[in-house]
Order: sequence, then structure tokens, then C-alpha cells
Amino acid sequence: MTAEKHAPFAGTRPPGARDEREAAARVQEMFSRIAPRYDLLNHFLSFSLDRIWRRRTACRFLPILRRPDARVLDLCCGTGDLAFALDRAREKALGDRSRGSFPLFGSDFAQPMLDRAREKARSNSHTAVFVAADALRLPFADAIFDLVTTAFGFRNLANYEDGLREIARILKPGGEAGILEFSEPSRGPMAGVFRFYFRHILPRLGGAISGNDDAYAYLPNSVAKFPQPEELSEFMERAGFRDIRFSSWNFGSVVLHSAKRP
Ligand SMILES: C[S@@+](CC[C@H](N)C(=O)[O-])C[C@H]1O[C@@H](n2cnc3c(N)ncnc32)[C@H](O)[C@@H]1O
Repeated sequence: MTAEKHAPFAGTRPPGARDEREAAARVQEMFSRIAPRYDLLNHFLSFSLDRIWRRRTACRFLPILRRPDARVLDLCCGTGDLAFALDRAREKALGDRSRGSFPLFGSDFAQPMLDRAREKARSNSHTAVFVAADALRLPFADAIFDLVTTAFGFRNLANYEDGLREIARILKPGGEAGILEFSEPSRGPMAGVFRFYFRHILPRLGGAISGNDDAYAYLPNSVAKFPQPEELSEFMERAGFRDIRFSSWNFGSVVLHSAKRP
């Protein structure tokens, strides 16, 4: 493979970041700053479709969630919404308010996002446990999780290859990974409408409501640079995952990849 072919998978580079360390620091600072308004903006800017995407993601992994001994981690969990969707799906699948033998874990490196996740867990009686951790250096032993998910977080990693390697490392053989991400639809009648909304409307609304223009300018830019679904699949394969599949939702603007660790 040539160096050019690998380049798109290097990871995110917010403006001004010269290397991975600076990229990660900027991402961490940006999400820490927008944490108080993050949920409001998520629901508002996606017309509340984000809730449906997370629910669908949880449904995709029901066969794992209905195993009482399954260990589950939601990476880059932010304020916890995917972790809660997984927890609810698990509770429903197991019935009788049983929550399985192990708590569901969420991890993130932005403390204010985690604070919010813990508050929400307390007020909604969720048993999910939230821990501070960098997704590129996870404080978990090898091969302990049956399922590792991440929603709208993977794109923000400073090194995608290392991110995939960490996910593979902590998954048990046969364990599954789910990566839910935005994508820029390249064809179809809605592609232009989506691009216009994502590049021109969303950054203005997001910037005005959050008071952080940079974060909502970063969002469409990082999505535009993120690998297309076929490329991400190829890269997951190179990272050693198998049975890689993806489903595109919302006219191709949201994509869920799932894959197994052999
Ligand atoms: C767009 S938010 C997504 C939050 C949540 N998963 C959701 O569905 O709303 C991205 C999250 O990824 C986290 N993140 C980005 N890079 C990270 C890293 N290297 N380690 C841990 N968390 C990271 C950010 O702190 C932020 O909370």
C-alpha cells in the first residue's frame, strides 16, 4: 500500500493542530466546552433523529445484549446516550429489569461530558459506569469485552488505525465492534440538500446556540474528511476485523459499521 492510500486514515486534525497530540488536545477541549449544550444541540440539529440512530444501533447488537454475561463498552460515550440506549435494549431483552451480570461501561476523555453522563445515569436510574479514558490508550485488559460501540466519536480520534487496534485489543475473539458515524452522501437527490444543511446551516445554528463557532465548523469539515463507508470497511479489514458490514441511514449521512474480531 502506498503512503497516500493510508493518509485518509491518519485521524482528525482540527485547524491549527500540528500533530496527533495537539489534535487530541483540541478535540478534548472543544467537547469539554460544548458539554453543557451538547445534548440540546444534538437533538435540535438532527431533528431528534439521533435518538433513533442510537436505538437502531443498540438493536443491531441485541444478540449480544441478551446474553446476561455480556461485557459492553461504549467508547467516546460523551453524555452517555448510546450507553443508555444499549442499557435500555439490554434491560428489555433480558426482561424483568435484570441488567446482566456486568455493568455497561462508557468511556470518554472529556470530563464535563462524563459529568453530564453520570448525572443523567443517576436521574434515570441507569447502572452504566462512566470512566475517564483516552480511546487510543484504554485502561482495559486485552480481550475482555463482547461488544465495543462508539457513536459519532471515532471520527474525532487523532489516529484511526490506533483506534481500531485498541478496539480489537480489548474485544474477546468473536466479540463485535459497532461504529456509528456521519458520512457525506456523495450521490442521490438528497446529497446536495444534506451538504448545504451540514456545511452552511448547521455550523451557524450550532455556533449561535453553543457559543462555540469552532466546534460546529469542525463538525462538517471533519465529516468531509472522514473515509467513505467502503474505505472505512477496507481499513477495518486491514486492522484484522472480519464480517464487516455497514448500513447507511438518513440518505447516506449516517452509517453504522459492524464487524467481528476473529
Ligand atoms: C460527537 S461526541 C459523541 C458523544 C456520544 N457518543 C454521542 O453519541 O453523542 C464525541 C466524543 O468523543 C470523545 N472523544 C474524542 N476523542 C477521544 C479520545 N481520543 N478518547 C476519548 N474520548 C474521545 C469526545 O470527548 C466527545 O465526547
